[in-house]
Amino acid sequence: MNSPSIQAKKHTKKSFVLRRGRVTAAQRRALNSLKNEYTIKLGKGMLNLAGAFLDPDRKLIADVGFGSGESLLSMANKYSEANFVGIEVYSSGIGSALNQIHENNLTNLKIIEADVFQLLETNIADDTFDGIVFLYPDPWPKRKHHKRRLLSERFLNLLYDKTTKNGLVFCKTDWENYYYQIKEGFSADERWASEDLTNLPEYLHSLPKTKYERKALIEGRQPRELFFRKASR
Ligand SMILES: C[S@@+](CC[C@H](N)C(=O)[O-])C[C@H]1O[C@@H](n2cnc3c(N)ncnc32)[C@H](O)[C@@H]1O
Repeated sequence: MNSPSIQAKKHTKKSFVLRRGRVTAAQRRALNSLKNEYTIKLGKGMLNLAGAFLDPDRKLIADVGFGSGESLLSMANKYSEANFVGIEVYSSGIGSALNQIHENNLTNLKIIEADVFQLLETNIADDTFDGIVFLYPDPWPKRKHHKRRLLSERFLNLLYDKTTKNGLVFCKTDWENYYYQIKEGFSADERWASEDLTNLPEYLHSLPKTKYERKALIEGRQPRELFFRKASR
């Protein structure tokens, strides 16, 4: 269980640096014309995520930091029994995802443009997500930057609140010491149980290699997987 003093610490450092990477003409068009249809807009209060989908009674899965969107699009395309939300701050990735949602006519996928930390803290009700996926969260490899890593103790507490009973968290990282940090963070909290990777839900079967996974493999870093289930509430 986490101590109240740690919970009370303010999260000040962002887990991302907003990349000014080139936004292509097609991505720019999507950002201008498809946002209304496929994004969930932030307001001051809690979002009604289920209500944004045609079938609000389905399970709700989030892909946090979906980057170029390979994993997100693949999950939503292959697994129409659930609703998916992609959360990202990176415009070019959001533009790509919007185009692909439109081209594939997907009704079970929406995008939220937001810092996931603030989003969960401010706009998401408790017990919302049946599953949350993190594929290659920014590693912040230098020790002096480890405090910027998203999957900190404070964030794990937020994840606990925002997942449903038996909710799942799946994570892949190619940075060994981030892998152990995440593993130790969940293991230190008795409210989470480590799950066998053979029990992965269908939407996580045969995920495509994402851009960052391909980069990791080229650079000789081995991806590792972590899988946890909320044990109690
Ligand atoms: C290393 S990239 C991985 C992208 C993708 N999942 C992949 O495997 O190719 C990490 C992504 O997380 C996003 N990200 C980092 N912190 C975030 C935050 N607090 N809220 C939303 N997205 C975030 C970044 O913008 C970036 O696109």
